[in-house]
Formats: sequence, structure tokens, C-alpha cells
Amino acid sequence: MKRMLSGIKPTGQLHLGNYIGALSHFVEYQDEYEVYFFIANLHCITVPQDPAELKQNLHDCVALYLACGLDPERSTIFLQTDVRAHAQLGFIMCCHTYLGELNRMTQFKDKQAKGEKNLSGGLYTYPSLMAADILLYDADYVPVGEDQKQHVELTRDLAERMNHRYGKLFQVPEPLVPKVGARIMSLSDPSRKMSKSDDSDKGCIYLLDDLKKARKKIMSAVTDSIGKVHFDPENQPGISNLMQIMSSLSDNRPMADIEQEFEGKGYGEFKRAVADVVCARLEEIQNRYREISESGMIEKTLKEGAARASQVADAKLSQVQKAIGMDIIL
Ligand code: AMP
Ligand code: TRP
Repeated sequence: MKRMLSGIKPTGQLHLGNYIGALSHFVEYQDEYEVYFFIANLHCITVPQDPAELKQNLHDCVALYLACGLDPERSTIFLQTDVRAHAQLGFIMCCHTYLGELNRMTQFKDKQAKGEKNLSGGLYTYPSLMAADILLYDADYVPVGEDQKQHVELTRDLAERMNHRYGKLFQVPEPLVPKVGARIMSLSDPSRKMSKSDDSDKGCIYLLDDLKKARKKIMSAVTDSIGKVHFDPENQPGISNLMQIMSSLSDNRPMADIEQEFEGKGYGEFKRAVADVVCARLEEIQNRYREISESGMIEKTLKEGAARASQVADAKLSQVQKAIGMDIIL
């Protein structure tokens, strides 16, 4: 079975875009691959965090992943800092990454270009740590959003470099970027992606939003004056986005089917139907979230996950240190 690994960096609350674009696919991957999902809490602190908020986000992230269907029996789920080998191989990878490579990484460059002050050394070397995360497990596939693809490409270069220098150490991983994958847009500005960094909170539905609030956000979603439920992202971006949400949450129901159901009906009625579908799914997830939070399942999952992951990661770290000549007692 091919191995898949992905890291999740919960620097904010998870929203419907994360669920439709990433999380729901992870749940499907469990059947096809041997999967490792970890919470990248080291990557989180590359930018300043409020400790209490970070802790809550980490907790909610694990609870929500489980609530959405990740199964700790089939997936290895763990916290990055619980497997010490990440930080250790991270440093080794740093020593094999050229400054020129780090300087080319757009995530860092973008932040710098925006004039953000006091960027940290950790943010600069972020991609080297990410390479370590992936290479420790000899992952074949790494599902990531488009913005992270460059980091996986760097990981491939580093793996090849080290394999060449020390003999075969690492599997060279492939990024897995969803092809068409639904891109959920903001409800208040359908020309932009639904995102936690939205200026107003109206455009983004969080998985833990109060149901009434979520319904209200959908009812006040920006639409158009055409007055027809028709899938046309260019001319009717708001309506098409709502159709996309409805379809994704109903087993990819065909757009033509939705168009037919709402033919001759007003946007109000259509929005109510979208809100029903969204709220039903949120309710399911939130009920599971509450059960999980109270059950001790989070602690158990992370403990067992870290133990399983450490076995693989420690063996790889040790192999690397030996190959480099860093260990004395072999
Ligand atoms: P982020 O929260 O931006 O770090 O994204 C985490 C994951 O969720 C990535 O795999 C993204 O591709 C996915 N994602 C984030 N926002 C959206 C969105 N609006 N629509 C679809 N997928 C999204
Ligand atoms: N950098 C990723 C993000 O921002 C999170 C991440 C950290 C990751 N390590 C990883 C993703 C390893 C895939 C593989 O979303």
C-alpha cells in the first residue's frame, strides 16, 4: 500500500472551505493509502501565536478531524512535537538547504514583500522542516493545496540531493494537488476564496459556527440580479458558489439536477435549501465534536499515533545520522 502524509497547520478555526477542499478528501484517502496526518504545531509558531488560542486551535483541529471521519484505527494521527525526530531531522535538512533555495520560496517572499516586520528565522527555514516531516516517513504522496506545492518540490530536490550524496536514504515524494477540487468562495465576496483571513466574518462559515449564524450567513450571501439558479461561475459567481457547496455536500450531485429543482424558483428558496444542507452537515459534525471532546478520545488518539509514528520516524532519523557520520556508537 502506498504511503500518504500530510500536515495540518491550525493557525485559525477550520471552515467549510477546508472541509470541502481538504478534509473530506482525507477521509476518503484512508481507504486507499496508509495515511499519516499530523498537526504541525512547530510550523504554527513560525509566526507569533497567543498561547491560549493556539492550544484551543490545536485541540479543535484534532477533534474536528475525528468528527469529520478520520479514523484513528486506520490513520496515524499525531502532534508534530510528540515525535522528536521532526525537529532533529528538520535541523539536518536545514543544513542541506541552500540559502538561494529558501530565498525563492514564495510564501516567505510574499510576507517579506508585504513589509511584515520581525519575520522569524523559523519562518525562513519552514520549508526545510516541512521536508523533514515528509521524508521521515518515506511518503509516496503528499496532498497539499496549491500554495504548498513549491515546498514539496523543494523536498524532492533535497531528497535527491541527499540520496546522491549519502546513498539511497529517502523516497522522493509526489505532491497531490486536487485537480478541479472545489474552490469554495467567500459568501460576501465570491471573487475571493473563503478564508479565515477574510476581512469580515460574514463570508466564511466555520465548522463550529452556531447553526443560526451559519444560516444567516448563507441567507445574506451575495448573489446577482439575473434571478436564475444556473451554474456559471463567471457571470453568476455567488449562485455558482452556493451550488458548488450544495453539490459537494450531497455526494457531488450534478449541477443540472440542482438547476432543474430550482427552475422558476427564487433565490430565497434556493438559499434556504443550501442552508438546510449546510446546517445538517454542521450539526452532525458538531455533535460528534462534542462527544469526542468529552470522551478522552483525543488524548488516546494522539498518544497511540505518536507511538506508531515514532517507530517509523526514529528508525529513519537514525539511518540518516549514521549515513552522515554523526553517530559514534552504531
Ligand atoms: P489553509 O486553511 O489555507 O491552510 O488550507 C488548508 C487546506 O484547505 C488546503 O488543502 C486548502 O487547499 C484547503 N482550502 C482552504 N480554503 C479553501 C477554500 N476556500 N476552498 C477549497 N479548499 C480550501
Ligand atoms: N505547510 C503546510 C501548510 O501550511 C503544513 C505542513 C507542515 C505540511 N508540514 C507538512 C503539509 C508536511 C504536508 C506535508 O498547510
